[in-house]
This record gives sequence, structure tokens and C-alpha cells, in this order.
Amino acid sequence: MSTSNGQDFDRGAAAYAAYLESDEGRRRAQTTWGFVSMYLPKAGRALDVGGGGGMLAKSLSQAGLRVVVLDRSAAMLAQAVRVNDGAETPPHFLRGAIEGLPFGTSVFDVVTCHAVLEYVPKQMFGLGHLANTVAPGGLLSLETFRAGVSGDGEPDEVFGIARRGIRCGDVHEVLAGHGLSVFASRHDARRLHVLARARR
Ligand SMILES: C[S@@+](CC[C@H](N)C(=O)[O-])C[C@H]1O[C@@H](n2cnc3c(N)ncnc32)[C@H](O)[C@@H]1O
Repeated sequence: MSTSNGQDFDRGAAAYAAYLESDEGRRRAQTTWGFVSMYLPKAGRALDVGGGGGMLAKSLSQAGLRVVVLDRSAAMLAQAVRVNDGAETPPHFLRGAIEGLPFGTSVFDVVTCHAVLEYVPKQMFGLGHLANTVAPGGLLSLETFRAGVSGDGEPDEVFGIARRGIRCGDVHEVLAGHGLSVFASRHDARRLHVLARARR
């Protein structure tokens, strides 16, 4: 079983695009957006980490935010560029990894990271980096698979890529340690979506 790097998603990009277009993919995008969009500011800077595919970036831009999409995979980024083609205020696209975000601390009013951490080898290290980029009073939206989906934290594989779920308690602990408090969360047996706010 492979571990995640940009090349994994370069190979899996077409399969992921097909998923996004499927009924299940569209339903998930709607549910996710319905939850996060309630809490967005009307303007400001947003960072979508692992935002390959580009659908969330498109919605964030349309909601009035100036968006940066960062992703490790060139093919996923290319897809995001295509999806946002012709947008009035197109996002800025950047190739990079969650483990080395090139922005400094306390920069973004909104940071989103959806369906990414389960592919990251050092998940809590990555989550700490994400949390550091949120500006005081800013919003973090983290959607991820829960540990236990595939047998108490054991990795499984989708799109030919290894995936490992996350423990809810660990997420809360890391966010609190970085000065963010979770104010809303939704979860089912598979997925966890938390919204957290950085201290002012
Ligand atoms: C399952 S897709 C999710 C795409 C999108 N966020 C969504 O919700 O549909 C996972 C994305 O995370 C990216 N990714 C995986 N590991 C990453 C890392 N360490 N740093 C940045 N992006 C990463 C992949 O390239 C891919 O685009």
C-alpha cells in the first residue's frame, strides 16, 4: 500500500474528478458547503489546503473571499484551475504541502481542509500547521475521515491511495493547543467535520 505524496493524487485525479461528479460526490459537497457557509465572513482571505478539484475554492470565491488553493498534486491543481476558469475573481493556485505551508502564522480569515488529513502521514503535525495559519478570530473548517472507519485507525485504500482516519479527541486536543476552540461539529460513523475559531 502506498503512502500519500503528490504523485498518488496525480494518478488518482481522474478517478477523483469522476467521484466529484457522481451523485454521492455532489451530495457530500452540498452538505459540506451548507455547514461551513453559515459561518463565513463576507470578505477576507481564505486558504483551501488540499483544495485540488477546486469546487470549494469556487464557492468560497463566489462568497466574496480572496482564495488561495494549495495542493501537493499537480494534476489535482490543474483540475482546480479548470473548474475555476472564467471566475470573476479566480483563486490563486499554489503547489505545496500542508507540512510546509509558506504563509507564516495568523494570516487567513478562513482556512479549509477537507478530505486531506487522512492522506497525510503525520496528521497532527499537519493539523498544527493549519491551525497556525488562522488569523485571530478566524475560522478553521476541517473535514476528515474518522478513525475506526476501517478498523480502529488501520489504513485502508481509496483511489489506490492509503488513507488513515483520525481520532476526534486528538483533533480537539491539537486545536485547543493552538488556541482554537471548536464551536460546531457534525459527524457520522465515517466522517468528522469540525468548525473552530481562533482566539482574538
Ligand atoms: C480526497 S482529495 C480532496 C480534495 C478536496 N479538498 C475535496 O474536498 O474534494 C485530497 C487532496 O489532498 C491533497 N493532498 C494530499 N496530501 C497532501 C499534503 N500533504 N499537502 C497538501 N495536499 C495534499 C491531494 O493532492 C488531493 O488533492
